[in-house]
Amino acid sequence: MEKVHYTYQDIHRTAKDIAGRVKASGFAPDIIVAIGSGGFIPARILRTFLGKPILAVGVAYYDDQDRPTELPRTVQWIEEAERKLAGKRILLVDEVDDSRTTLEYCIRELMRHRPAEIAVAVLHDKLKEKRGVIPPEVSRYFAGEKIEDRWVCYPWDAEDIDEHDAARLAEGKAAGAS
Ligand code: G4P
Ligand code: MG
Repeated sequence: MEKVHYTYQDIHRTAKDIAGRVKASGFAPDIIVAIGSGGFIPARILRTFLGKPILAVGVAYYDDQDRPTELPRTVQWIEEAERKLAGKRILLVDEVDDSRTTLEYCIRELMRHRPAEIAVAVLHDKLKEKRGVIPPEVSRYFAGEKIEDRWVCYPWDAEDIDEHDAARLAEGKAAGAS
């Protein structure tokens, strides 16, 4: 699959743009819920602009006999999620909306904790056929960018960040961008 690289600068700008749109929409989250691990860094940048605490969740792909599953099965909560989420306005954050499977699973898990409202923010939404759905209880959906169905290389996965940034530059030039 064709690759596309985003730098930390790109990600920061996209997160700032999302935060601006969250504010402009009138949605005032009480808490940011980050889906690990891809959602951690975007959530932290959003916190700079929205100033709210972050609760981290992780999704596990194994069944009760420790066998790998195709769909997410377990959400790992760091602490007392129920008490923290009931009646709260949640902004659920992940880096990419790909198949939407993980997102749907996390949204449904969050809804069990009776929040007042759930909104979703992702840096990148891939324009493709989705396997999961955003449940109608989700009041708002913010996508930093809608992108073609390519493999996104995020800076936090880079072993050599300078090579990563150089790859981004080469793509930009190829595409006729800055
Ligand atoms: P979705 O609901 O957000 O669409 O996620 P989906 O289940 O389709 O994605 C499964 C995993 O694949 C997720 O990571 C997601 O972040 C990752 N993924 C999907 N597309 C891309 C891509 O273009 N680039 C990169 N780098 N990752 C992608 P995960 O298993 O939750 O792991 P983690 O990396 O977030 O820790
Ligand atoms: Mg992820």
